[in-house]
Amino acid sequence: MSLENKNNKPVRDSQIAVNPVPIPYGRQNITEEDIQAVIETLKSDYLTQGPKIAEFETVFAKYVGSKYAVAVSNGTAALHLCAMALNVQEGDKVITTPITFAASANCVRYCGGEVVFADIDPETYLLDIDKVRELLEASPKGTFKGIIPVDFAGRAVDLEAFRNLANEFDLWIIEDSCHAPGGYFIDSNANKQHCGNGNFADLAIFSFHPVKHIACGEGGMITTNDENLYKKLLQLRTHGIVKDDKKYKNTPAFANGSTVSSSATVRSSAVDVMSSGGETYPNWYMEMQDLGYNYRLTDFQAALGISQLKRADEGLAKRREIAAIYQKAFKGKKFFTGQSGVVEGHAYHLYVLEVENRLGLYNYLREHNIFAQIHYIPCHLMPYYREFGWKEGDMPNAENYYKHCISLPMYPTLTDEEQEYVVGKINSFYED
Ligand SMILES: Cc1ncc(COP(=O)(O)O)c(C=O)c1O
Repeated sequence: MSLENKNNKPVRDSQIAVNPVPIPYGRQNITEEDIQAVIETLKSDYLTQGPKIAEFETVFAKYVGSKYAVAVSNGTAALHLCAMALNVQEGDKVITTPITFAASANCVRYCGGEVVFADIDPETYLLDIDKVRELLEASPKGTFKGIIPVDFAGRAVDLEAFRNLANEFDLWIIEDSCHAPGGYFIDSNANKQHCGNGNFADLAIFSFHPVKHIACGEGGMITTNDENLYKKLLQLRTHGIVKDDKKYKNTPAFANGSTVSSSATVRSSAVDVMSSGGETYPNWYMEMQDLGYNYRLTDFQAALGISQLKRADEGLAKRREIAAIYQKAFKGKKFFTGQSGVVEGHAYHLYVLEVENRLGLYNYLREHNIFAQIHYIPCHLMPYYREFGWKEGDMPNAENYYKHCISLPMYPTLTDEEQEYVVGKINSFYED
C-alpha cells in the first residue's frame, strides 16, 4: 500500500492494517428488546399517535426532570413548533450559535424571523454569553426576542447565566439539547441542572435521529415547565386542532348542522354551551383554530424510544469512558490544539479533537475504515445565510474552530479494540 503519513514518510506495514469493519463517528444500538417493543406496538391497534406516545412523554419528562414533554416527528419539527409557540414573527431577531446543525437557526426563518449569530467560546465550543451580551447592549431593548443556545457535542450550556441575561432583556430561551439528553451543568448553588429540565429555558428540544443517544429512526421531543406553552404545542403538533367543548369558537348549533342561515354561527367570547341554546357539541366535532402541522411521532417509534431510554444511562456512562480514554491519549500532544476533554455533565454525543492538517487526517482515517466527521460547517457561512450578509471574518472563533475540528468515533458499542485502533491511527498519522 502507498499510504503516507503527514510527514510524507511511508507507514510501516503493521500500522496500515485496515479494520475490517467500518468505524463510523456515531451509530445506533438496537437490541432484541427494542425490536420486540416495536413488534408489539405494530400488532396493537395504534400505528400513529396512541398510548405509547403518552408513555414516552411521561418517561422522557421524568428522565430530564421537566413537568411536560411533547413528542414530535423530529428535532427540526420540535424547533419549528417552539418558535411558533413563542410567537416568532416576521422580522423578530433571535440569537444563536454558528456551530450547530442548521435547524437551530432555520426554525427562526420558518416563522419569518431574523437569525443573528454570536460567536462561540473557543474553550467550550458553546455560544459565548459575553458575545451575546455585547449584541444585546448594542441595540435598544426589545430589538431581540430570544436566544437559542445549543448544548453542542453534549456539553451543557450554563443556562442559569443565560436566564439571568435573558431576564435583563425580556427574552425567551429555547435550549437545543439534541446532543445532550442526560447532560447537566452545575449551577451557582452546586446543584446539577439537567439539560431540558425547564428550570431556566422556556422550552428545550431533543432529536432521536439514529446517531443521537436515543434512536427512534426519526423523532423529537420538546420539554417545558410552562403549562400554557405545553398546551399550545399539543395543538400545533396536530394542525392547530382543538378538541374541547369549552374552547370552541363556532356555536353548537353550527357544529350540529342545525343552524338556519340567519343565526349566528360564531360564539361571542366566554359564552358557555348552555347559553348557546342548551345544545352540546357532537362527538365528531373539532376545530382548527391555528395554522399547525402534522408533526406527530408514530406509536411504534415511541415504543422504540421508550425501550432505548431504559439504556440511556448505561450508554452515557460508556460515552464518558470513551471520552476519558481519548482525553488521556491526546492530552498535551503538540498536534492537537484542543479537544472536548473530560467535563462534568458532558453527554458526549461527539468527541471533538482540534488538529493540524485536518484534511490529511480525515482522509487518512477514511483510508483506514475510520469515518470521522466534521461538526459543523459554520452556519452563518452556509450559502443561504450568506445571502443575509453574513461573511467570513464575522465569527472568528467559529471559523477557526471549523478549520481544525474533527469528531472521532463515539457511541456506546464502540469496542475497546476499535477505540485503540482509532487512537493508534491518529497517533501514527502525526508521529510516524
Ligand atoms: C443541534 C441539532 N439541532 C437540531 C437537529 C435537528 O434534529 P432532527 O435531525 O431530528 O430534525 C439536530 C440534528 O442533527 C442537531 O444536531
